Amino acid sequence: MSSNALEGKVALVTGASSGIGAASAVALASAGASVVLAARSIDKGEAVAEKIRSAGAKAVFVQTDVTDDKQLARLVAAAESEFGALDIAFNNAGTEGTPGPITDADPSNYDTVFDTNVRAVLNAIRHEIPALRKRGGGVIINTSSILGLRGVANFATYAASKFAVEGLTRSLALELASDNIRVNTVAPGPIVTPMLERATGGNTDGFNAIIPMNRPGTPEEIADAVIFLASDASRYITGHALPVGGGATAGFVTG
Ligand SMILES: NC(=O)c1ccc[n+]([C@@H]2O[C@H](COP(=O)([O-])OP(=O)(O)OC[C@H]3O[C@@H](n4cnc5c(N)ncnc54)[C@H](OP(=O)(O)O)[C@@H]3O)[C@@H](O)[C@H]2O)c1
Repeated sequence: MSSNALEGKVALVTGASSGIGAASAVALASAGASVVLAARSIDKGEAVAEKIRSAGAKAVFVQTDVTDDKQLARLVAAAESEFGALDIAFNNAGTEGTPGPITDADPSNYDTVFDTNVRAVLNAIRHEIPALRKRGGGVIINTSSILGLRGVANFATYAASKFAVEGLTRSLALELASDNIRVNTVAPGPIVTPMLERATGGNTDGFNAIIPMNRPGTPEEIADAVIFLASDASRYITGHALPVGGGATAGFVTG
């Protein structure tokens, strides 16, 4: 794909202070987009924005808690006031909550996980649609997971939230196709980020065992898929889940 595939586009990335979101913000900017970065951590978010600016591209960080609907509205407005438009929305912020056996679960964990992983994505998209329509169309990419396509023991709450992301993505792809707005998910396998570190305590052996390629992925490998879904190279793809997980969703690994 050409290095200026997104020249003139404006992209918004939530969860841009770390991991997949940070790598994707950098990749979107490298492909020519102006980028609005969102997360709660000011220092980390500003550092990613500064990295992009120092490479000669345009970026602003807007401190945002995605569980607050007013802050999401302000985020979309910032894209329009800073860069004049919104073309690409990458709704990526997420939390693993507290994985473990369901009998140990504190029900408040359901709220934390669903508020961040599902409700915030629905709210973000609600605010993004009018801005995308003003441009005659655009792209929405939501971060799901291979756990949005397959179950995994001890991750029931998280998996339920990511299955919900798949459901809302496909439904909105149907609803928005006539607006020329494509809606897809990127569905990462285990990716080396602070989230994977927290979820596994640093021991990824259990996850590696279900990955035919036998290794976790990198944030940059997800960012490459995000660029594909954001660009015209995927112009006839909507309502699709793109697993990027070393073959994890292909079937079963035996002996
Ligand atoms: N790593 C994996 O193995 C993996 C696999 C499949 C899917 N995913 C998904 O990929 C996405 C990114 O995760 P990651 O692995 O890159 O994890 P990460 O490094 O922990 O990053 C998570 C990002 O989400 C942001 N975030 C969390 N809650 C937020 C809130 N309430 N408001 C605003 N931002 C919030 C964090 O920023 P602040 O803390 O600064 O707010 C951070 O930028 C998530 O949706 C995750 O579920 C990850």
